[in-house]
Amino acid sequence: MKKVVFTVAFAALLSSPIFAENLSMSDKDKELYSSDENPGDLYVSKGEAIFKKTFGNSDELAKFLGVEKSKLSTELASYPKYLPKAGKVVAIDQMLQLAMSERGIKPFKLTSDDMVFMSSFVFSLANEQKMAVDTTGEHAKEYYEYGNKIYHTQRGARGLSCNSCHSQGVLGMRLRMQVLPNLGAPEFKSGATWPAYRMTKSELTSLQKRFQGCMQNSSQKPLPIGSKEMVALELYVRSMSNSQAVAIPGLKR
Ligand code: HEC
Repeated sequence: MKKVVFTVAFAALLSSPIFAENLSMSDKDKELYSSDENPGDLYVSKGEAIFKKTFGNSDELAKFLGVEKSKLSTELASYPKYLPKAGKVVAIDQMLQLAMSERGIKPFKLTSDDMVFMSSFVFSLANEQKMAVDTTGEHAKEYYEYGNKIYHTQRGARGLSCNSCHSQGVLGMRLRMQVLPNLGAPEFKSGATWPAYRMTKSELTSLQKRFQGCMQNSSQKPLPIGSKEMVALELYVRSMSNSQAVAIPGLKR
C-alpha cells in the first residue's frame, strides 16, 4: 500500500514545480562552473585566517586530536567520528568547538560564517586524501545505522525520504531539469566535496545546511544543525564517498 502512495506522490512531484528554490544557473554561472575558478576558494582562505588567529597553526590541532602532524590529513578525512574528548560522534565543526573551549575561547556557533569558513579550511587540509569514515566501530556503527534509518524515513506532507530522490533506482531521472544525484556517484562525490560553493546561492555551504535545503524542498521539517540526527546523516552520506578523494571546496549548483 505504501508503495502505491509513494509512486503517486513521486509522480506528482516530478510533474509539478514544487521546488521553491531556483536551481537553474545563469550563463555567467555556467561559464564559471566549467572554468577552473571556484569562488569558494576565497571563503576557504578567510577560514584559514580565522583558523590561524584561533589556533596558531595546524600543529596545535594535531596535538588536540592526539595525532602526529603527518597523520592530520588522514585523520580529518575520517570525520564524523567518535571523539573521546566529546564522548560522542562529532562532525569537524563540533570538534573545532571543543578545541576552542579547551583553549579558553568561546566557540563559534555552528551556523556562523566564522565556523563555516574555518571548518571548511580545516577539512581542506585533508584534500586529496581518501575519505575513510568508520561505519563499523563501536560508536560509529550506531550512528551509521541511525543515519541510514533517517535517510530512508519518509517524512513530511509528501511522504518523501532522502532515498526517494537519491538512490540507484531513480538515478538518471530528472526533477525540473536537475538530475537526481546518487550521492556517492563519481559525478557527485557528495561526501567528499562539501562544504561547497553553491552557484545558485552565491555562498559556501556546509553539508548539513545542504541537507536542510533538501528537507525544505521536499516539505520535511529541517532537522537542526549539529543534532544527533544530522551528525548521523552526515556520517552516513560521507561514508558513501569512502575511498573518494577529498576536494574542498566543492563547486555546485
Ligand atoms: C524531492 C527530491 C529530493 C529529496 C526528497 C531530497 N533531495 Fe537532495 N537533492 C535533490 C535535488 C534535485 C538536488 C540537486 C541536484 C543538483 O543540483 O544537480 C539535491 C541535492 C542534494 C545534495 C547535493 C548533491 C551534490 O553533491 O551536488 C545532497 C548532499 C542532498 N541532496 C542530500 C539529501 C538528503 C540527506 C535528503 C534527505 C533529508 C535529500 N537530499 C532529500 C532532490 C531531493
